[in-house]
Amino acid sequence: SDYYAVIGNPVAHSKSPLIHGEFSRQTGQDMRYEKILAPIGEFPTVVTEFRQHGGKGLNVTVPFKLEAFRISTHHTERADAARAVNTLVLEDEAILGDNTDGAGLVRDITANLKFSLTGKRVLLIGAGGAARGVIMPLLEYEPSILAVANRTQEKAYELQQRFSSSGNVVAIDYADLHGEQFDLVINATSASLNGELPPLPAGVFAAESLAYDMMYGNRDTPFLQFAALQGVTHFSDGVGMLVEQAAESFFLWRGVRPRTDTVIEMLRSHA
Ligand code: ATR
Repeated sequence: SDYYAVIGNPVAHSKSPLIHGEFSRQTGQDMRYEKILAPIGEFPTVVTEFRQHGGKGLNVTVPFKLEAFRISTHHTERADAARAVNTLVLEDEAILGDNTDGAGLVRDITANLKFSLTGKRVLLIGAGGAARGVIMPLLEYEPSILAVANRTQEKAYELQQRFSSSGNVVAIDYADLHGEQFDLVINATSASLNGELPPLPAGVFAAESLAYDMMYGNRDTPFLQFAALQGVTHFSDGVGMLVEQAAESFFLWRGVRPRTDTVIEMLRSHA
């Protein structure tokens, strides 16, 4: 059977084997999917060995997404825009690098949460790799504005410069968010991991707004708690994004689109 894996460091906590196991069972694909812990500095070597053992594809997680971009011999357009790769397709001679994170996020927001992005005011918090990967897919839905706020302001301005030819992307300082309201606020910072909250002012959420934390495995992050205190009633952690990005990778490898709703349910009930 064809061999796939998720590669990262750390990787022990990864839900990807569970998710892809469900996908392959459901679609009847003959494949196996494992976890690989790559030592820091040995990512390319580990990929080469995996390939020599017949590996067909990899999901790439922290901290190797930039290195995965570098070792890819060609990229999809969305991976180019993100400058980061979370999915490798190991072809006979070549390595295709793709990034399915952004597609996973917009699919979760539009299809699962039934939130329409078109014409909406969207605030993206953070300007690291996670934020960069979701900008183009969000712009495809033509929000009226995509504001980007980041602790280190220069990084938000860089993203404005890079993406403003594709849509209304505007860097904004946290301090200038006072008096501004958004229909969708996405936390793409790593602040939740440390139990921290980006400095959002009260009143940043419009009525009926959606608060989305890209972190998964915790539906009670400081960001989601803050949103609840602000009266927000629509929120989500990143579990749907996690399953949807996996489904995109699965489709790329196998040409079959798995069902995601049952897998999201399963992960939510295990959390
Ligand atoms: P990732 O790949 O997860 O995006 P990253 O590239 O290290 O990781 O980016 C982390 C993001 O979280 C950055 O936008 C970072 O802000 P800075 O660019 O100013 O470092 C943001 N971040 C992390 N901790 C934060 C905190 N406590 N408050 C606000 N922003 C935070």
